[in-house]
Amino acid sequence: MPDNTVTVVYIADVVGEAGRNALKKHFPGIISRFHPHLVICNAENASGGYGLTERNYHELIHLGIDVLTSGNHIWDKKEIMGHINAMERLLRPANYPPGVPGRGAIIIPVRNEAIDVEVAVINLMGRVFMLPVDCPFQTIDALLEVFRARTPLVIVDFHAEATSEKQALSYYLDGRVSAVIGSHTHVQTSDARVLDGGTGYITDAGMTGPVNSVIGMDITQAVSRFLYTMPGRLKVATGRCMVQGLMLELEIESGRCVKIEPFTYTTKEGD
Ligand SMILES: [Fe+2]
Ligand SMILES: [Fe+2]
Repeated sequence: MPDNTVTVVYIADVVGEAGRNALKKHFPGIISRFHPHLVICNAENASGGYGLTERNYHELIHLGIDVLTSGNHIWDKKEIMGHINAMERLLRPANYPPGVPGRGAIIIPVRNEAIDVEVAVINLMGRVFMLPVDCPFQTIDALLEVFRARTPLVIVDFHAEATSEKQALSYYLDGRVSAVIGSHTHVQTSDARVLDGGTGYITDAGMTGPVNSVIGMDITQAVSRFLYTMPGRLKVATGRCMVQGLMLELEIESGRCVKIEPFTYTTKEGD
């Protein structure tokens, strides 16, 4: 890795204890492969598949995650509402209306103290086929005015359902942020690339959780919900797991992405 770049690893949505355990197993290998200066992880499903407890927040930070992002499941564990302001490394979507607790963006120094570099991480949520929130496009315009004065290294986790909305935001931000990483659909897409203006992009980074599942959840329960249209909470699936995510290499001076490399690790049955 040239010394005019920083390396960032993004771990895709961690689902339940199965996902957390798979991440713990593969984390040392990921670190020794990429030597990242910053590790970001989407954790909106990290606790039982729904939300994030304070305990699991600390568990992931202790493992070595620098910034946790989230999305529509952020409030599923009700305890978080009283704690989120104190969870300094956790982001909820920045385009929740003013007054919502927590923070949607962070500026953080990279973990290598020899390099004096800060990276901004911003979490946004889409509005197509999702609960209505404020406009992600206008929200990030306002945030970038402030953040770009501090650092050219800006990473966006765009938590959205519609591919079109994700692509549109990536072109809207091309050349103004280092990367737009899509999350929420839990299936890694094969469109990772650097856009013409220098912004790294992937429609969805994938998932960290059970391979044989419906986006992480138990197959029988998920099929039954579609068959009978009856409500019911789904349990996290079991069996072998995968850890998905990607590596970004970013030019310190310009903030441009020079490389985006998705990855998938899998565990064996019973691991
Ligand atoms: Fe998710
Ligand atoms: Fe989500």
